[in-house]
Amino acid sequence: MAKIPKKLDEDPNTTGHEWDGIEEFDNPMPRWWLWTFYATIVWAVGYSIAYPAWPGIKAATPGLLGWSTRGNVAEDIARVNAANDGINAKLAAAELTSIPTDPELAGYAASAGSAVFKTWCAQCHGSGAAGAKGYPNLLDNDWLWGGSIEEIHTTISHGIRNEEDADARYSEMPAFGEILERQEIKQVVNYVMSLSGTPKDATLVAAGKGVFLDNCAACHMEDATGDRDQGAPNLKDAIWLYGGDYDTLTNTVTYSRYGVMPAWSDRLSEAQVRAVSAYVHQLGGGE
Ligand code: HEC
Ligand code: HEC
Repeated sequence: MAKIPKKLDEDPNTTGHEWDGIEEFDNPMPRWWLWTFYATIVWAVGYSIAYPAWPGIKAATPGLLGWSTRGNVAEDIARVNAANDGINAKLAAAELTSIPTDPELAGYAASAGSAVFKTWCAQCHGSGAAGAKGYPNLLDNDWLWGGSIEEIHTTISHGIRNEEDADARYSEMPAFGEILERQEIKQVVNYVMSLSGTPKDATLVAAGKGVFLDNCAACHMEDATGDRDQGAPNLKDAIWLYGGDYDTLTNTVTYSRYGVMPAWSDRLSEAQVRAVSAYVHQLGGGE
């Protein structure tokens, strides 16, 4: 068995604690350790004077240097904005139709517009711009209000059926529940279904055509291809904003729809509106 070393009797330098025969030396801390420790205290005092440190009721002490993470971000943003000032001014002043063909503007608009889209538009139109029920797909070439860059720019600047902008796109489909008999609604719904697919009841289609010509053609046109001046959708292309099944169509015709989009010209700069217009225009359906 190894011999357990005994405490030296002549060594008086212990802390004086003893537990079950175990005592503790009271040796001084190593010097390098102590100086490092003092240095951290000095550092901490200096830091808490220079930088935000002590929590208060509303905010932390600001520190003499006035540094903040928020300020840092603001500086970064200001720097990027300043760097883009030139191209933004050029974009805001350019002829709209020249943007897609000017490589510098088109390239900048595509990336700046994509950032605007992800921040402001994706929650309704989807991050890939494919839309959802009631929110149009912006990737296809089926346009409610027009797919040239000028039309898109007008739509985005002023919005649709909103009350904040007097120049908003506006139109209203009547709720035909108050105008037509139930049977007539059934007929016209079957007619609309027959335009791009199979009706629920083929025997009603012929009568439905008559109802359509009398009540719907003024907006959706006699051939049902729609009217962009009124934002009246094409009913022949099997692309549906709200849905092309019997129940949804009956709902649409009975109660009407009222899709609203906010105006963006008061929220975004002209350069941003143009960037996102060009971005939407180049997604695939631009005219
Ligand atoms: C609050 C939801 C909402 C947001 C946010 C929104 N939109 Fe819309 N947008 C709509 C709706 C609803 C319509 C369709 C209105 C209608 O029925 O005519 C629409 C229509 C459009 C159209 C017309 C499409 C066509 O076929 O003519 C364009 C272009 C468009 N939005 C672009 C944008 C852009 C770009 C943004 C971001 C700056 C944006 N939207 C943000 C709801 C939204
Ligand atoms: C005063 C013009 C007007 C008249 C008349 C009108 N519509 Fe519409 N219709 C619209 C507009 C505008 C929209 C788009 C509403 C929206 O986006 O909120 C629309 C939308 C629709 C839709 C939705 C299409 C989709 O993609 O989901 C259907 C279906 C429809 N109309 C059918 C009819 C039928 C059937 C009639 C006749 C009984 C009719 N409309 C009469 C203007 C009209």
